[in-house]
Amino acid sequence: MIVDLRSDTVTRPTPAMHQAMMQAEVGDDVFGEDPSVLALERKCAALLGMEAAVFCPSGTMTNQIGIKINTQPYDEVICYKGSHIYKYEGGGVAGNSLASVRLLDGDRGRIAVKEIEANINNLNDAHLPITSVVSLENTVVREAGSYYTLDQVKVVSEFARSKGLKMHLDGARLFNALVETGDEPVAYGNFFDTISICLSKGLGAPVGSVLVCKKELEPKARRMRKAFGGGMRQAGFLAAAASYALDNHITRLKEDHTRARVLGKELSQLSWIKSVMPVDTNIVIFSVVDSTTPENILAQLNNEEVKAIKFGPQEIRLVTHLDFDDKMLDKTIQVFKKIKV
Ligand SMILES: Cc1ncc(COP(=O)(O)O)c(C=O)c1O
Repeated sequence: MIVDLRSDTVTRPTPAMHQAMMQAEVGDDVFGEDPSVLALERKCAALLGMEAAVFCPSGTMTNQIGIKINTQPYDEVICYKGSHIYKYEGGGVAGNSLASVRLLDGDRGRIAVKEIEANINNLNDAHLPITSVVSLENTVVREAGSYYTLDQVKVVSEFARSKGLKMHLDGARLFNALVETGDEPVAYGNFFDTISICLSKGLGAPVGSVLVCKKELEPKARRMRKAFGGGMRQAGFLAAAASYALDNHITRLKEDHTRARVLGKELSQLSWIKSVMPVDTNIVIFSVVDSTTPENILAQLNNEEVKAIKFGPQEIRLVTHLDFDDKMLDKTIQVFKKIKV
């Protein structure tokens, strides 16, 4: 039994999802004629309380389009220093938007008004880039899936808008946050100009992310999707999987969180583990003692068919998901207990 905890992106479509895909009505989405894509876009816009949505191949693309259509060249984006848009999108903000980033420490990745306020540039000083967007990530992948509540988001958004700033959300794992907070997704639309959600992470679809946005931004978003090479043709097969995921895989995310917490607790009792970050959702990040290395641990895990990834000089990351069940959880714990350092 292989246990793959490298990411929640490793899931495969369930039989029921497969069936939904095979039954999808499709058309050419670049001509706006794929009924399954159009239905998914309507569903996402309604779910998040916004007017428009654009289906894209990846969360990197939806983030990059979001930043692009909220900025002008030479602007600056405020975000957490470990945010995906900055650290893990291949320099896309610089390359695609010609924008700089202002990196904040945040509280486990959650940036707040005081820190944002101190980092908005003075418009009248020509030395400084123009601050134009605040980008939040919910949940925060680099911080073991910490999350914002809607109240925290509201405070940041109201402040940012009072300063004339746009709001982007990297909601790759927004639903992981929502099942913990109990906040209504529909309220999110009030607080952002653009929201990226991923269907291919915890929700278990094979491919796809959606950029949800204000109506007036939709033509720009579609143009940039084309320019970035993301226009897909009979994408309805993928959209059907994504719709199925939204209908069937949100509430079960709680199970992933429960298993992640059990893992975190078990790991914290092992002598060679220095510390485990608080486990808030489906991501477990831990550091190993100086006398060993992540490579040593990962090799031993690999020998037992448990896969994880290095996530820092002494850190390892595990992510729970739809294809990780209680049997696998038991196996993982047993394998960890056998590790020698
Ligand atoms: C927080 C976050 N945002 C965006 C992405 C990008 O998604 P994709 O891999 O679909 O490009 C990821 C991917 O893991 C992510 O973790």
